[in-house]
Amino acid sequence: MPAPITTDIAAAAEVLRAGGLVAIPTETVYGLAGNALNEAAVAKIFAAKNRPSFDPLILHQSSAERIFAFTTAPSPAAAQLAAHCWPGPLTLVLNKQAVVPDLVSAGLETVAVRVPQHPVARQLLELLDFPLAAPSANPFGYVSPTTAQHVADQLGDRIDLILDGGPCQIGLESTIVGFPEGVPTVYRKGGLPVESLEQLLGHPLAINTHSSSHPTAPGMLSRHYSPGVPLDLWADLKQVDELPPDSAVIGFGMGGTHYRRDENRHLDFYDLSPTGSLEEAAQQLFSVLRQVAKQDYLRAAAVLVPERGLGRAINDRLRRAAVEE
Ligand code: TXA
Ligand code: MG
Repeated sequence: MPAPITTDIAAAAEVLRAGGLVAIPTETVYGLAGNALNEAAVAKIFAAKNRPSFDPLILHQSSAERIFAFTTAPSPAAAQLAAHCWPGPLTLVLNKQAVVPDLVSAGLETVAVRVPQHPVARQLLELLDFPLAAPSANPFGYVSPTTAQHVADQLGDRIDLILDGGPCQIGLESTIVGFPEGVPTVYRKGGLPVESLEQLLGHPLAINTHSSSHPTAPGMLSRHYSPGVPLDLWADLKQVDELPPDSAVIGFGMGGTHYRRDENRHLDFYDLSPTGSLEEAAQQLFSVLRQVAKQDYLRAAAVLVPERGLGRAINDRLRRAAVEE
């Protein structure tokens, strides 16, 4: 039986207490949540997603105080980021306490932790006396879900319940920051712009977006976000005439509607934000990639967005989506 979709937070808490899996809304993307301290529940998360066990999960809690109970004391830089950015789209990688199961951290000495901002996620966490382990609620290698329906489409028959909190406001996964050798380092560009973190800390940040996958699996994350069709990346729309008929174009700031069909050329145009808002483009990106994947296009092309703020995270996803399998 496919998982019911509900808005009943208490019912979701009950399923989680019993060791079940619930898809939960966060401000970034929907997560596939289970009791992080229950190894059987955590194992079910990996199985439902088809996720390799060497790819560690993020722990979620309702406050910095509650989440720091699972890490060693944060450095001043980590504490500063937590104080300013939580609740919000930031994940910190810190040294873990022994109580965190090795399955969650994939055997690493560190654990990724986050305090989400979505009111439904926060209320749910408040009801629980354990943290939630929650990767994005998509099968491994696919685009993250930004609506309850996205989750139902892909994982509905593998989980117990879907908690509907509406479309995700940010639409990109959290920004991940780790502290290798004590140096604040961006592991994943996401919903919190790197510039905001740099402003807070007062210096440029190191960026190493390869460390968020296991060292023995280089490039593992590259296949993520595949739209299921060869995707070209363009700087602008000049090459549009080179596309064969029955192709799709993903653009930005084209000034018209979100979707337009060119009947003469048999091309579909998807605009991430007709008005050129990076926030709107971030919100729309994964839905558009899903729509493109659903059609039988011959090819697709995406115009890169401005490389600043959320645009850096959007372009990162587009570049990964363009990697051929
Ligand atoms: O916005 C988000 O972060 C969402 C919502 C649900 O919170 N979650 C999410 O989780 O995107 P997931 O599992 O799809 O991505 C987590 C990333 C993975 O790339 C994983 O390799 C990395 O975090 N990660 C987890 N623990 C880590 C650690 N100890 N060191 C380095 N990277 C880690
Ligand atoms: Mg993911």
